[in-house]
Amino acid sequence: MPILYSPENHVFHLQNANISYIIRLVAGKYPIHQYWGRRVRAIHADAMERCCTQEEENFTLHGLPLDTLPQECPVYGCGDLRQGMLEVRQADGSSALDLCYVSHEILKGKPALKGLPSARGDDAETLVLRLQDEHSGVEVELSYTVYPDVDVIARNLRVINGGQFPLVLEKALSACVDFENAHEQLMTLSGAWLRERQIYTRPLTPGNQGVESVRGASSHQACPFMALLKPGAAEDSGEVYALSLCYSGSFLANVFVDSNDMARAQIGIQPFQFSWELKPGEDFQTPEAYLCYSPNGLNGMSREFHHLCSRYITRGAFAHAARPLLINNWEATYFNFNEEKLLELASCAKNAGIDLFVLDDGWFGHRDLDNCSLGDWVDDRRKLPEGLRGLSDRIHGLGLKFGLWLEPEMISPDSDLYRAHPDWCIHIPGRMQVESRNQLVLDLSRKEVREYVIDAVCAAMERGNVDYVKWDMNRNINMLHSDGLDSAHQKELNHRYILGLYEILEAVTSRFPNVLFESCAGGGGRFDFGMMYYMPQAWCSDDSDAFMRCRIQYGTSMLFPVSTMGAHVSAVPNHQTGRITPLFTRAAVAMSGTYGYELDLTKLPEEELEEIRRLNEKVKALQPLLLYGEFYRLRSPFEGNETAFMSVSEDQSEAIVTHVYGPAQPNMLPVLLPLRGLDPEKDYRDVESGRIYGGDELMSHGLTIPRTWGDYMATQLHLVAVK
Ligand code: DGJ
Repeated sequence: MPILYSPENHVFHLQNANISYIIRLVAGKYPIHQYWGRRVRAIHADAMERCCTQEEENFTLHGLPLDTLPQECPVYGCGDLRQGMLEVRQADGSSALDLCYVSHEILKGKPALKGLPSARGDDAETLVLRLQDEHSGVEVELSYTVYPDVDVIARNLRVINGGQFPLVLEKALSACVDFENAHEQLMTLSGAWLRERQIYTRPLTPGNQGVESVRGASSHQACPFMALLKPGAAEDSGEVYALSLCYSGSFLANVFVDSNDMARAQIGIQPFQFSWELKPGEDFQTPEAYLCYSPNGLNGMSREFHHLCSRYITRGAFAHAARPLLINNWEATYFNFNEEKLLELASCAKNAGIDLFVLDDGWFGHRDLDNCSLGDWVDDRRKLPEGLRGLSDRIHGLGLKFGLWLEPEMISPDSDLYRAHPDWCIHIPGRMQVESRNQLVLDLSRKEVREYVIDAVCAAMERGNVDYVKWDMNRNINMLHSDGLDSAHQKELNHRYILGLYEILEAVTSRFPNVLFESCAGGGGRFDFGMMYYMPQAWCSDDSDAFMRCRIQYGTSMLFPVSTMGAHVSAVPNHQTGRITPLFTRAAVAMSGTYGYELDLTKLPEEELEEIRRLNEKVKALQPLLLYGEFYRLRSPFEGNETAFMSVSEDQSEAIVTHVYGPAQPNMLPVLLPLRGLDPEKDYRDVESGRIYGGDELMSHGLTIPRTWGDYMATQLHLVAVK
């Protein structure tokens, strides 16, 4: 039984073979957080024993010292002096709540969330705890799902106005964990455009710390995720507790360490610029949060998140399938192309063994630069004389699949759409507009705008008979105001935008179930589980430089599996950094993602094209292992001059190991690289050299990585178990 309820002591014990999460109702009414971690049979200790410091310092409600109790749904204002996960402004202007247990239910499976992406869970079990504040009528449902095969608890919260007066939600987070014992370190993924998801680790100190986005998107700058590390925890060992979120908008992930070294970790929708009116009888559903416990360090944590994502979040025909090797014309041509150029590139790609040709930005309106035409999804006949269909037919005629770039959420001031509907963008009437990349954001909170977007996207996809869509989004939201909302509801816009986006994605992806969708937001500006629910892969970053990609993909792998990370071989010197890296290194790095090319193949010498042909054969042969194997990080580019990682097949019969050096350093010994995840009892043969190694030897002693000559050299080994 994954969820046990013991009525005598009011304990809910959520468990699988590895983890326990225990909630206790103290005084029969307050859900306190009693334990989360390695599986235990039970917790006998009395939570109350630990929560009283000097008695006279404690505020109490019903005799309970809420300020020192670890709680499941804390709220500020009735004795707890820390920030809570819920803030509900009531008719009298106050916001204190006294949320007490009313009832609970244990469900088989996992209910989907209304209007929001969420993980599946047919073989999971879900606990729903119902609480109520008698004074205001506010009701809260806390949901917890435990999986048999993934060490993750999925949580969400639903608030219902069960009272007689309207309420205003000012904060509604998805999960809160009060840790009794201090952690040592906080790890987050932060960065910027072209430098996404860099790993930052720092000591936890009293007060607030964490990451957030107020940009209307999960953002390049911060990833909705944080990991708390117990003393001594590292890549392969030690205890890690992580929280992440299935949401693509502004978010908050915060830890508050109090004066008793208790850490309150919370994650959810960003409360800044958020409010939501609840009339009597209405409810509000928060996005889903994932709580992951790993006793096997960060690598262990990552593998749990990878399993969650690929088993329960990504959906559709491509979730577990081979992905087409693609060529994208963006870095090959930018806006400067015509049909002849595209076909030349496509036929060269076909000869090199590529499967899919993707037409990027610039095919519509009169878009020769990034300053016009977004919203006017009309074929530019100057560049494509027979429109999208003509080009698509020819691409298909070459034996390639055809993919299309769209940026459906945007509108250019220079567009027919804007001239017809100037109020359809997010703007403040009477104020100057703030543009970014010369564009504005469509107001997806409005039904008529959503309908336009769905129709325009579907029409372009049908016209182009497309097999793949790259869904881009190149600016964040600012100047918050919607003409569709009255002044009291403007703070609902951020969240309504994301709900609108999800509605559009649901409509479009279900209308084209056999199309592969790749999410993109100026590269990795919306790399989150919410987008993964609709699209199984995402362009990881606009930075295609292999050396920088080592960092970006290494950081991204903390949370997301290889099968989600769009990664392409691009030209040298690289267009973002000017760096020159060997072709093999660019390919080896792109192989730890969904593989493709982003350069003008027609300009390459024959020997490079020949190498590309060989690489493509290799990628196709190894794709199941590369995309869906167990992923292990071996050397961190954040800690030295090397990056190394490996993928191991589920049955441990083969593995692929990739090692990449940074700038060359002279007079260095060959590296000894201990591997992970192999079967210690098996022997493995290096396919290229024919050398045999024991799995135990490779994991305990290591694999010797030869010395290389030159900057940014990569080594890749394919190991196959010997029968
Ligand atoms: C940003 C994307 O990340 C790029 O790959 C490219 O599609 C451009 N937008 C096109 O405008």
